Amino acid sequence: MENLYLGIETSCDDTACALYSNKRGVVVHRTAAQLVHEKYGGVVPEIASRSHMRALLPLYELVMKKGGIGLKDLSGICVTNGPGLTGSLLVGLSFAKGLSYGSGVPLTGVHHLEGHILANDLEENFRTPCLALVVSGGHTQLVYVKEIGQYEFLGGTRDDAAGEAFDKIGKLLGLSYPGGPAVEKSAESGDPEAFDFPRGLKNSGECDYSFSGLKTAVRIKIESLGELSTTLVSDIAASAQEAIVDVLIRKAVIAVGRKDVHRFYLAGGVAANGRLRELAGERLGPLGIDVYWPESKYCTDNAAMIACAGMYRIESGKTDNIELNTFSRGELESWR
Ligand code: KG4
Ligand code: ZN
Repeated sequence: MENLYLGIETSCDDTACALYSNKRGVVVHRTAAQLVHEKYGGVVPEIASRSHMRALLPLYELVMKKGGIGLKDLSGICVTNGPGLTGSLLVGLSFAKGLSYGSGVPLTGVHHLEGHILANDLEENFRTPCLALVVSGGHTQLVYVKEIGQYEFLGGTRDDAAGEAFDKIGKLLGLSYPGGPAVEKSAESGDPEAFDFPRGLKNSGECDYSFSGLKTAVRIKIESLGELSTTLVSDIAASAQEAIVDVLIRKAVIAVGRKDVHRFYLAGGVAANGRLRELAGERLGPLGIDVYWPESKYCTDNAAMIACAGMYRIESGKTDNIELNTFSRGELESWR
């Protein structure tokens, strides 16, 4: 029997809705990105929540129309309830609660990082046990996935997230927002060995990260160089990108040495980075580890991954009620 799940994602600055089928996979997914934050060079929380309020209802109606179904045809309503910006999360959660309360369709709250990891299940089957590296604008962590619903945190960043480092470096270089894709584009014509930027905690022997020193080193280098030519911008972008992906994968190598796994999944917005994908394959492949990543459109925030993760919860009887709350911070915990 076919079961259809609605996904709702409003944890940061993307309003997203999707329908996911246990038989057909992603049926329809739509994301409304909030370009308004570009002029501020970062997400303004109050503007984000107001924009979600305007965008969510029409997006939901569009997705249901494209899917050709009504509310009562759903087997579950899956909504990100954390971590993220509280005001933004509340818009999605209140909307989902209203739909569920009015229709009797089961509701489940999904951890945003579980969604990112399970974005790997949207196109190809996600297989466990495995390791996942979640790298986004707000998170950088290595997670051992024993099975879907059973997670062990192996290490994460002590300060900035990898995506945040890309964004801040992009801003320092005067590139467009968000910095990640812009730094990658500029790096294409740059020399990754032009500058030897620091790899935070590279010798710690642990699966932990630190990117704040890199950001400072890039700022000091830019200040010392004065006027930047396009070539210099590309060289700095390429060298900074290399420093980020190098240390990301160094720690991944430590993690695979600790767990008996043969699969490694990249997840989150930074998983769209071509150099990260390439280096993961180059260094983990010879260790007998197959490396996977979601299609780029499912690396960044989307609701298909939330619907998919929510499906596993609802199928296991993990439903929530009107008491469900949001949380702004919090590790991915096992629920099975
Ligand atoms: O997962 P995501 O959409 O939102 C969060 O949950 O944070 O990730 C957004 C982050 C941003 O920091 C963005 O600059 C980064 O992912 N990003 C990239 C690339 N595409 C997006 N970073 C490096 N290379 C890319 N191609
Ligand atoms: Zn995200």
